[in-house]
Amino acid sequence: MCGIFGYVGKKEAKPLLIEGLENLEYRGYDSAGIAISTNKGIKIVKRAGKVEELKKALKEENIDGSVGIAHTRWATHGLPSELNAHPHTDVLKSVTLVHNGIIENYLELKNEFNLKTQTESDTEIIAGLIAIMPEKNNLEKLKSVVKLLKGSYALAIIFSNEPECIYLAKKESPLMVGKSEDDIFISSDANAFKKYCSDFYILKNNEFAKIKYNNIEFFNKNKKINKKTNKFLNTFAFENKNKYLMQDEIAQTPDALKETAIFFENFKDIKNYFKNIDKIYLVACGTAYHSCLFGKKYLEFLNVPIFTEIASEFKYSKHLFTKNTLCIFVSQSGETADTIACVKKCKCKTLAITNVPNSSITFACKKTILMKAGWERAVASTKAYSCQLLIFYLLKCLLKDEKPKIKTLIRQSKQYLNSLNLTQLAKKVATFEKVMFIGRQDDYITAKEGALKLKEISYINCTACPSGELKHGTLALVDENTLIILISTKNNLISKNLLTKEEIEARGGKCLILGNFENADIKLPKLSADLMPILSILPLQVLACEVCILKGYNPDKPRNLSKSVTVE
Ligand code: AGP
Repeated sequence: MCGIFGYVGKKEAKPLLIEGLENLEYRGYDSAGIAISTNKGIKIVKRAGKVEELKKALKEENIDGSVGIAHTRWATHGLPSELNAHPHTDVLKSVTLVHNGIIENYLELKNEFNLKTQTESDTEIIAGLIAIMPEKNNLEKLKSVVKLLKGSYALAIIFSNEPECIYLAKKESPLMVGKSEDDIFISSDANAFKKYCSDFYILKNNEFAKIKYNNIEFFNKNKKINKKTNKFLNTFAFENKNKYLMQDEIAQTPDALKETAIFFENFKDIKNYFKNIDKIYLVACGTAYHSCLFGKKYLEFLNVPIFTEIASEFKYSKHLFTKNTLCIFVSQSGETADTIACVKKCKCKTLAITNVPNSSITFACKKTILMKAGWERAVASTKAYSCQLLIFYLLKCLLKDEKPKIKTLIRQSKQYLNSLNLTQLAKKVATFEKVMFIGRQDDYITAKEGALKLKEISYINCTACPSGELKHGTLALVDENTLIILISTKNNLISKNLLTKEEIEARGGKCLILGNFENADIKLPKLSADLMPILSILPLQVLACEVCILKGYNPDKPRNLSKSVTVE
């Protein structure tokens, strides 16, 4: 949530900052702004709305300079207005900063230090506090202020008395520094400067940096420190050929599966970590939580109790951890605050399954399995979900000493995606205000994920219900304005599912079947039951995307959401 970008070098900062913000826009798109050190002082331009709005505004602005900071916002405190957009300053404009995170005690600090503010944001008080600190040195001022802050922050700051420098501070929210021969980049996500740098640094909690041309100094609370650089992993060049990222990302699924399967070879030692475990908790949010529901099914053969929990609930519940309890945390981004907060309470074995190397969850957990889905930027998670299911399947095979059979899956998913044409169906779905997804067993989990996908980008009211449970209450919602999408991939359940369809239609509801048998409305190919969930979600992702586009929305940037949910 919120993306920070910064540049120090010899080039014009403006286009680089805009490019950086465009790369980070998946983290929030309520407003955007930049601040550049020019020879006439620090100039700030900000706009409500997407980076596109800022870009338009900057066409008319002459702000030349080679040191700058930028921000794309997901609003937490205050409306997504130009006023509340970052960068923020103190009253005298001696401190200009961008912030990702939340300052929980900002009102207390505002009152305690009698700060005058102009915006509704929690960030503005940080600038105000730094400006009134008595220390002479800017780094010391910053260190004194962060001691007062409760919450999370990644900060990039320009001081008017040191306009050639950018200062950084970090706690909980991610912050990376990339270095090439002549340029230094700052970003919430290293992917945003990957094009320019091969090496980068990752700031840890309570670390600081002072950056000026060709020079980066790192500090902890007490002293200057040396930090090691990180290299980007070799990544597969995923194809982009559609208008929207979500379309590309769904189409990239077969390659993502293949890359993930190959890369899994590096994690085979994890087998030892499963020795003697007494129970497993699978914890995540949203789509990643749905993959945990499948994870439980894949790992059930271990004959130990397995619990699946939504991270924001797990945090507040009681659990019996022993040294042999294993908690598995699944997160595409590796930065989801709710999930990371859970890791901290687990005094036991912890394993992260994530798509992002060096993300916060990889540092928080004792072990990590990386997927190789490639950069996922559309807010609705698609290819990463498929890879999460694949990881659980591969784990099952590894622990059971079975040979995974994924060649067919990869071939079939490619052929299937190429042959899918859901445009007519999407037109029909787009006319409904209520859509219910139902299924039994694995298909119920797919129904949950299908419902989440459609609702988050089309704003249609979607729910999921186990087919057999309909008649125990939810059937009361069914009328001629309700569309039910019934998922049916289990041979032994077809007749029961057909009966459910009749019950729905008898109440005036419309029912479409997604299944792997002759009369299904959306046909799935035959595949082993183990791998079917990786395939059966594909048409629901494509359908959601098509409905969204038909309704005139942008699937990559649904309202109110952010790809990386870094606040609890
Ligand atoms: C998926 O389509 C959602 N946008 C969302 O539920 C997401 O899966 C959730 O926020 C968890 O994110 P993570 O995998 O990065 O932790």
